[in-house]
Amino acid sequence: MRTPLVAGNWKMFKGAAEAVAYAKVFRALAKDLTTVELVIAPPFTAVHGVADALRNSGIATAGQDCHWEKDGAFTGAVSAPMLKEAGAELVILGHSERRRVFGDTDADVTRKIHAAYAAGLAPIACVGETLEEREASRTFEVLDTQLKAVIDGVSGEQFAQMVIAYEPVWAIGTGRNATPEQAQEAHAHIRGRLRAWLGADAADKCQILYGGSVKPDNARAILQQPDVDGALVGGASLDPHGFFTIASAA
Ligand code: G3P
Repeated sequence: MRTPLVAGNWKMFKGAAEAVAYAKVFRALAKDLTTVELVIAPPFTAVHGVADALRNSGIATAGQDCHWEKDGAFTGAVSAPMLKEAGAELVILGHSERRRVFGDTDADVTRKIHAAYAAGLAPIACVGETLEEREASRTFEVLDTQLKAVIDGVSGEQFAQMVIAYEPVWAIGTGRNATPEQAQEAHAHIRGRLRAWLGADAADKCQILYGGSVKPDNARAILQQPDVDGALVGGASLDPHGFFTIASAA
């Protein structure tokens, strides 16, 4: 019913030359992997080169964030139209590192999602609780708040293009992934809320990715969960062979 999707979020790793070399290696590795949607999100400076290297491969390029304005006096920022012109097809928004390190609020995420749609980019919208919130039994409350911001003002046609990524903050970069059962519980909750708010068809068609210390040795068990439709991979995506192993498990 839902095509698996595996995306690599490189964060602030790989300059343009290394990124293009990786794209060429990964393109060759993945040439027969036609059952999984593949996405690579390099740093901004490498988006154009990677998109060019992946042209006609079926592998999409994504930005890791964007500003909500199409242009303006925002030093250091990159707009959604600029990402689109560079060859991106999707953009990661609301990542916990944008929220925690750069101060993105739920309202910022909402504005960025609308900017992405206006530029013709599909959002990969991230939600997830901190360890403190989980230990305080507030996981579902936090997910509901973030989800509402992610879908606020989004039409049914637009939502059909959205990918949701559940990334428990306590699993990101820690080597401590959520168990398959924890991932399934959160994904089922997210899908249940989408079903209640947007209807069964929209919810059942939505790809919900898991992110947080996904590795070649744990991917299959997580990806086998019924409401896990793929992965948003950080550190393990920096090696093309390891990333291909994870993608092949989807
Ligand atoms: O966006 C994916 C990222 O947050 C997960 O990072 O290194 O735990 O796979 P990592």
